Amino acid sequence: MKLTETNVPVTVPVAAKPARGAILGVCRARVGICWTNQRPEAGQRFDALSELFNASTFRHLSAVGLEPGWRVWEAGAGGPSVPSWLAEQVGPEGRVVATDIDTAWMSGTGRFEVRRHDVGVDPPPMGPFDLVHARLLLVHVSRRDRALAAMVSVLRPGGWLVLEEADPALQPLVCPDETGPAQQLANRLKTGFRELLTERGVDLAYGRTLPGRLRAAGLVEVGADAYFPITGPACAELERASVEQIRDRLVAAGIATDVEIEQHLSNVISGRLDLATSPMISSWGGLRPTVEPVAERPTGHLGATAGVRGTVEFDDCAVRRRPARNNAR
Ligand SMILES: C[S@@+](CC[C@H](N)C(=O)[O-])C[C@H]1O[C@@H](n2cnc3c(N)ncnc32)[C@H](O)[C@@H]1O
Repeated sequence: MKLTETNVPVTVPVAAKPARGAILGVCRARVGICWTNQRPEAGQRFDALSELFNASTFRHLSAVGLEPGWRVWEAGAGGPSVPSWLAEQVGPEGRVVATDIDTAWMSGTGRFEVRRHDVGVDPPPMGPFDLVHARLLLVHVSRRDRALAAMVSVLRPGGWLVLEEADPALQPLVCPDETGPAQQLANRLKTGFRELLTERGVDLAYGRTLPGRLRAAGLVEVGADAYFPITGPACAELERASVEQIRDRLVAAGIATDVEIEQHLSNVISGRLDLATSPMISSWGGLRPTVEPVAERPTGHLGATAGVRGTVEFDDCAVRRRPARNNAR
């Protein structure tokens, strides 16, 4: 579904509606979140997320030097929009592996590999990768430290990890301009929903911790920034699809009545509310590149540190330098 300026959803053939299947039980057991990809709203949420965040994501991925021939792992890809774009960038010489615990929304375009994969449990796909990227994934994964370590482990020397996670605690209001009852209702529902997420192990302040985590993982040239839209049709569509998807849970948890949810949905669809998203923190870091030895490559173990400049790893991999980072963010 694409969004127009008038907030009229237009269906485009992005991915088929997933069949409810055997993996549903697996997803419920292993994904510690309120979301499941097994509902039509999941595809609508992926489309809204693409509309809202792809431009910023693509800017960050381009800035680390993404180019034809790169090998990329897109973890927790959800829908096809990011891996499709990555496949265009790396071209036929490159490789894009898109993984998710539930691959129902990733249509097989043939331009990228699709794998069902639990990032906190399963071994990472075979690297090395020039780039590993994940957006809105780790915050939902209970073994997120392990997942992050797995991502770093498959980077090639000089490769980049780019992580993007929401930080709702940084800006908790869905209606920052709370001018009346409609905005108050929206903010109350969002607060209740976030309490539900916290109970389920979601760290609502995870985004801001990314730079520290990347540095702790040994990455260098670490940086981060934040982006969040304040209003727009895609913000409204994300809110609508999200509330539709979890309305039963909101009612069951006593956060809102059915009547309040109907009222909120009608307020959202009317287009009168300025609905913001949570800040998206994008953080990047590179694995220290190997550097050509100044002198001849040593032959004996005693020569392992002689005649070298900087960090040298005397392995048999091709020694590759990290491309210059484009600072025009
Ligand atoms: C909020 S969506 C984000 C999707 C996509 N990255 C984006 O930004 O549009 C979270 C995705 O993470 C996936 N996911 C959740 N837990 C996972 C896990 N343990 N391993 C792999 N994927 C997981 C979900 O299935 C879902 O597709």
